[in-house]
Amino acid sequence: MSSDAIPVLTIDGPSGSGKGTISRLVAEHLGWHLLDSGAIYRAVGYAAGMAGIDLTDAEAVTRMAESAKIAFRAARDGGDTRVIVNGHDATDELRTETAGAAASAIAAYPALRAALFDKQRGFRKAPGLVADGRDMGTVIFPDAPYKVFLTASAEERARRRYKQLKDKGLNVTLAALLREIQARDERDATRAVAPLRPADDALTIDTTGIPVERVVAAVLAVVRRA
Ligand code: C5P
Repeated sequence: MSSDAIPVLTIDGPSGSGKGTISRLVAEHLGWHLLDSGAIYRAVGYAAGMAGIDLTDAEAVTRMAESAKIAFRAARDGGDTRVIVNGHDATDELRTETAGAAASAIAAYPALRAALFDKQRGFRKAPGLVADGRDMGTVIFPDAPYKVFLTASAEERARRRYKQLKDKGLNVTLAALLREIQARDERDATRAVAPLRPADDALTIDTTGIPVERVVAAVLAVVRRA
């Protein structure tokens, strides 16, 4: 099968919109592969930081994106997928809002995004792919037959992130998270290249106050309806 014939479901949206959880559950349900593109941006920021690279140096960060070895590995205990960066399991470090903010800062560099283009397209493998990110439906897989854009109020998104990070034992405050998330979304939505926005042919689902199972069902319906 040519890779263009392999189905892709894109799930884009701002941080805390439920993309990560919904993408994982939908991919499991369909038996499809999963691309967590945000983890790639986080991993590049992390690798650059470890190498002592100044994150404002777009060229050096882009070179790091080209050379860093980023691998996803299923957790032995059935928990979250592990992200291995240059041989080191960086999963826990990548979850923090500091890693999210660093990812968002470097994600605005056009050359860096171009360097990651083929890497992300390479995840399109049979029997199908669920692709989670900001520009999956607009830039990376514009030809995807199924596209969803998840949103939720900023307060709810901050509450979800707060719970997620607290559950992982991280020390955060709700007010600080809300500020950080709003700043990150503002930067992601207003950058010149691949800004956060729904593809014209995406179905937008507002997940504020909606239980996870109902959102999963609504997303699966997009695939089944076709
Ligand atoms: O989804 P996640 O919160 O892990 O993404 C971290 C950051 O990476 C986002 O705030 C965004 O700036 C960037 N990103 C992106 N394009 C994607 C996925 C993530 O620019 N497809």
